[in-house]
Amino acid sequence: IDCYAVLGHPIHHSLSPQIHAAFATQTGEVLRYSALDVAPAELAATLARLPADGFRGVNITVPHKESAWAYVAQQGTLTERAAMAGAVNTLAWKTTGLLGDNTDGQGLLNDLQQRHALSLRGKRVLLLGAGGATRGVVLPLLAAAPAALVIANRTAARATELADLFAHKAVAAGTLLHGCGLAALPQVVNTTGTFDMVINATSASLGGEAIALPPGTITTDGFAYDMMYGKTPTPFLIAQQQAGVTRLADGLGMLVEQAAVAFTLWRGVVPATQPVYNALREQLA
Ligand code: ATR
Repeated sequence: IDCYAVLGHPIHHSLSPQIHAAFATQTGEVLRYSALDVAPAELAATLARLPADGFRGVNITVPHKESAWAYVAQQGTLTERAAMAGAVNTLAWKTTGLLGDNTDGQGLLNDLQQRHALSLRGKRVLLLGAGGATRGVVLPLLAAAPAALVIANRTAARATELADLFAHKAVAAGTLLHGCGLAALPQVVNTTGTFDMVINATSASLGGEAIALPPGTITTDGFAYDMMYGKTPTPFLIAQQQAGVTRLADGLGMLVEQAAVAFTLWRGVVPATQPVYNALREQLA
């Protein structure tokens, strides 16, 4: 039987085994998917051993996404989106060798476009944060050809560095890409206008903190998205709602969609995500 797993540390909270089991049942794919708690020092040895143990692919989660990227950079091939993300969330042992991919950005895009019926083309998009979560989604977001993508971060230098890294891709997409500090947002809004969409890729919600955006950053008919999710609305979404934004979504859909892209990479079949999303949403409530 083909084996798959999610590798993280800790890992007990992961919803990936449930998501992939549901995809497998739904599509009739015969496979086993487990959760493996792997200490950082054990990651390389574990990855080296897994194919001989019957594993055809793994998902990678916190804190291993960057070190797994380095492993694949040495031992295999990275997709372009993974190479530029500096992190992988999906590995596949194929007959041609080890492939490292990052399906987070496509997952975000599929959630925005399919579940929330949003087109990014020609829109002004504000992306908050400049850590791994942000870097992982920039290339797929650019592929959707927004008019502008502004990366704003508490530490301005990290945002401008990311904007520099993706500058040539933004030119190709016809997108105005800009990096700045959160403190510079009022000025950015003043000179270039309000945003149609804000995506929170910071970890602020984890600590129960909301990021305060200057009033009028997002158009009132705009959209606010938090990559985090939970039982109750995240602090970021609550703050946006209080600021008058009515269209809001958390990252549960992104979680299911990134898993679906990984499942398709491994099995060559596209699972239906909505039933799995609905079940998880009900379970969270
Ligand atoms: P991840 O891989 O989840 O992106 P990370 O690389 O540690 O994790 O990045 C966390 C991001 O959340 C950073 O952009 C961080 O801002 P700094 O670069 O200034 O540290 C941002 N962040 C975390 N807590 C925050 C808070 N309370 N307010 C604003 N930004 C916050």
